[in-house]
Amino acid sequence: MNDDVRHARDAALTAVAATATLDQLRAVEIDVLGKRGALAGLKAKLGSLPVDDRKVIGQAINEALGAVQDASDARRASLGDEAMQSRIAGERLDLTEVTARRRRGHPHLSTQAWERLEDVFIGLGFQVAEGPEVETDFYNFEALNMPPSHPARSGFDTLFTDYDDEGTVLLRTHTSPVQIRVMQTLAPPIYMVMPGKVFRRDTPDATHMPVFHQIEGLVVDRNITMAHLAGTIDAFTKAFFGTGFNSRLRPNYFPFTEPSAEFDIQRPNGGWIELGGCGMVHPNVLRAGGLDPEEWSGFAFGFGIDRMARERHGVDDLRDMFSNDMRFIEQF
Ligand code: PHE
Repeated sequence: MNDDVRHARDAALTAVAATATLDQLRAVEIDVLGKRGALAGLKAKLGSLPVDDRKVIGQAINEALGAVQDASDARRASLGDEAMQSRIAGERLDLTEVTARRRRGHPHLSTQAWERLEDVFIGLGFQVAEGPEVETDFYNFEALNMPPSHPARSGFDTLFTDYDDEGTVLLRTHTSPVQIRVMQTLAPPIYMVMPGKVFRRDTPDATHMPVFHQIEGLVVDRNITMAHLAGTIDAFTKAFFGTGFNSRLRPNYFPFTEPSAEFDIQRPNGGWIELGGCGMVHPNVLRAGGLDPEEWSGFAFGFGIDRMARERHGVDDLRDMFSNDMRFIEQF
């Protein structure tokens, strides 16, 4: 009878070990541990055995049932683990998005020119300042030696806002008002460039936009002369465009500089390009900035940034730079 018990136990353990799924294990458990199982059958026969055998065999059957139950529990744990792992693998989500073509953006052509200009002027020893785009009449005109009714005002095609008194708040028409703000806040010597957006009531065409960018330069120090201005313009021209380029000043008029000039640069092939305005800071402008013209002198210049970008990249129509057409943008 002891052999029968060992036999039944081994068969049950083999069956449990052979299960591949939790469902199979459940079926095998009912089979080997249930009332119809071999071990249960042997237990039912105990009653017919002599008392001493009954005790020994009964104990062997209980041990066998315990061993099969333990093996079955261990198998359940490992099958459960495998089921969990395969479920995790099966339900795994791939969140990677693969797009057909990667596009890398780049700064706007005007921003590129703006940043290059800053770099060149910083290399020449200048600092960079910015001012507000919405200005008062005082900073845009009056402090720049253009009192109300000055004829030069009409040349600026000013856009006024309806904030405050009519005609006193406007979108700045040039970066020159930042000259005044810089003089009011910093003590000379001043070597400053002031880039930014400016606005004029213009209909867009190949060479004009109602919103464009300028960079202003202001130097205020002792004994500054027109030679310093011409030398700075020339040093800038060679640093920005290349050593093959030259510059010249042509007499002109601006209310805020005296004397005033237009400055041009010459391409290596000989052609001249008109770049911007400049001159010696007018004594009235120094006074508006809180400086004594007997003690300080200086020069100023201002020119268009977008024109630089256009020149550099050979863009025919300025409007192309601001219409966001990908066929244009992706060329740069
Ligand atoms: N502010 C002038 C303009 O926009 C340019 C300029 C700047 C001229 C500084 C002289 C000195 O036309």
